[in-house]
Amino acid sequence: MLVKRLLPVLLFTGLVQLAYAETPVTISSPNNNIQLTVYHRADGSLQYAVTYKEKPVINPSGLGMKLTSPQVSLLQFDLEAADSAVTDESWKPAWGEQSTIRNNYKQLLLKLTDRSGSGIRLQIVFRVFDDGVGFRYIFPQQAKLNHFILADERTQFAVTGDHTAFWIPGDYDTNEYAYYTSPLSKIDASGGGGAREISTRTFFDKHAVQTPLMMKSAEGLYINLHEAALLNYPAMNLVLDKPTYTFSSHLVPDAVGNKAYLQAPFSTPWRTVIVSDKATEILASRLILNLNEPSKIPDATEWIKPQKMVGVWWEMHVGKSSWDYSGGQVGSQQSTRVPHGATTANVKKYIDFAARNGIRGVLVEGWNTGWEDWFGQWKEDVFDFVTPYPDFDVNELQQFAAAKGVQLIMHHETSGSATNYERWMDTAYRFMNQHGYAAVKTGYVGKIIPRGEHHDGQWMIRHYERVASKTAQYHIMLDAHEPVRPTGLHRTYPNWLASEAARGNEFNAWSVGNRPDHETILPFTRLMGGPMDYTPGIFKIKMSTYNPEKKEQVHTTLSKQLALYVTMYSPLQMAADLPENYEARMDAFQFIKDVAVDWDDSKILEAEPGDYVIIARKAKGKNDWFLGAITDENTRNFAETLSFLDADKKYVATIYRDADSAHWQHNPEAYLIEKFIVDYKTVLKIKLAPGGGTAVSLMPAKADELKQIKKYKK
Ligand code: NOJ
Ligand code: CA
Repeated sequence: MLVKRLLPVLLFTGLVQLAYAETPVTISSPNNNIQLTVYHRADGSLQYAVTYKEKPVINPSGLGMKLTSPQVSLLQFDLEAADSAVTDESWKPAWGEQSTIRNNYKQLLLKLTDRSGSGIRLQIVFRVFDDGVGFRYIFPQQAKLNHFILADERTQFAVTGDHTAFWIPGDYDTNEYAYYTSPLSKIDASGGGGAREISTRTFFDKHAVQTPLMMKSAEGLYINLHEAALLNYPAMNLVLDKPTYTFSSHLVPDAVGNKAYLQAPFSTPWRTVIVSDKATEILASRLILNLNEPSKIPDATEWIKPQKMVGVWWEMHVGKSSWDYSGGQVGSQQSTRVPHGATTANVKKYIDFAARNGIRGVLVEGWNTGWEDWFGQWKEDVFDFVTPYPDFDVNELQQFAAAKGVQLIMHHETSGSATNYERWMDTAYRFMNQHGYAAVKTGYVGKIIPRGEHHDGQWMIRHYERVASKTAQYHIMLDAHEPVRPTGLHRTYPNWLASEAARGNEFNAWSVGNRPDHETILPFTRLMGGPMDYTPGIFKIKMSTYNPEKKEQVHTTLSKQLALYVTMYSPLQMAADLPENYEARMDAFQFIKDVAVDWDDSKILEAEPGDYVIIARKAKGKNDWFLGAITDENTRNFAETLSFLDADKKYVATIYRDADSAHWQHNPEAYLIEKFIVDYKTVLKIKLAPGGGTAVSLMPAKADELKQIKKYKK
């Protein structure tokens, strides 16, 4: 039973007078496409439901919490008050896919008291946007007890049928899985997904999946479930009840089996349901960012710079050199010795290459002692983050990089030993400041120390935030590998440029790799929460280049690797291949040199999860546009009108495309580069090879170019 005066239409003017009625409360999104209905049943239980254009998206689904301390189930409530509000504002992210973001929603806040007599007060706040719904639980300051231990959250998402799902298994520690595409009824998370290759896997339920979870209904609705602003709380997995297609929240436990320790006043992360009848609108949604708090770093613009990087990195993954000083190959499963990668001379080679090509960052892995025996399961203090190997001259490289206008990026592999890293953080960041390092790439390979904790549990969630805020204190940008998957916190901590937190390109170097559809799924799943350090740009596709016995390859064409700089959004983009592989193909590398990493605007032109993605983006503060188109294993044809271009300008389109004979498996490196004059009326034909892609740069044409370059013919 809810509030009579709310009905039938809520007036969004503040506190709502209380009176009880049998009728549920409905609030609509600003454009009325989405409706959220809240039911307060006679037994005190609360449910919510969501429709899109009058079609059910979430059937009535339960809300609540179970506590172990005090032992109370917060599942039946008395409603004390309800409050409503409307917000319509715009804000500017420090960097991003667009320079201005509109935040427009209607809000309903319910103030509840536990009906079982504990006296515990709980609030639930709902926000209804045009692209979906977000809601969170709030423990306000209590009259008596303010400390709670959570047994689990009891949030449900009852979807309406056997939707197609793009999912990875539920897990407490890793998200580096290959995606499954299956009906919900076929979800079985007990095997596969590349789990063999992931040593830290923590399997707990064969019907559990991770978020962001992407679904498509038989009626053509696209539905994404995730969370926003995950702070001081464990990540949420979802467990499916098959006959009813109802997902229930399952929070990641701590070492003793509790889920979370809460002290009121406290707010949980937001639970998000993004929905549309167009897949493109899922990718255009900014709902998750809007639900995060504004930046905590007021001076963000000075020292936070979206950028491209190269690095002493891929050469270790392909087995050409090692992290370890003595030449043991940690990642490449070979027993032969290879040279140490992070030598002063080798790093200089990368710095030179970066300087010559206008690339700002150079990442160096394997520079510090400890890689001989680095798995944290056995040793807590593997690395100290300040002691270089003898062949890595920190001072010399500092001067060399500065003279060339390049910034070194330091690598901090924690090997999962977060306790050790916490002890070293201040010292390590001071060391970085002293030696001119502007960014750090962290890593959490292996099991977590404190032992028994998980990558995605409350303790580690707090750790990742401590790292974000402490790096900010030292004016250091952050790229985290193997952390929990993002939930839009880059709005609050814009120095946290990117995370890996999914199966990156590296898997192609030493495992069965990522299927050609992988990059068409990631934008709908992992990237919904934030930028990914996917490490695109591999030009030497087959690993037999490095060792004739190797069968591994990147499941891509070369042109698709270029297109990923546009389709796989990140303000930190690695040009991941070796300098010599780029030097052999400078014509194609030109796209990587040109492509922007920060944007005024993004247009999602075409998208279908698991099939294809085409995006055009306008470089921040410039008139240059970049278009990326990628496909799965199927060849595809598109015709895209370039209507986003300025109507009064002509542009040079440089098209980097698959050669007609290109194929991810049989002929991956065959590409063509063509130049044409185009304008906003041009209809660009795009033909993608199996596993292929097209990348296009569109730059205002100069007078001589207008004469020399031929017009694009339809
Ligand atoms: C896994 C990371 O994803 C990768 O980028 C890094 O090179 C290795 N760990 C070693 O730290
Ligand atoms: Ca990784």
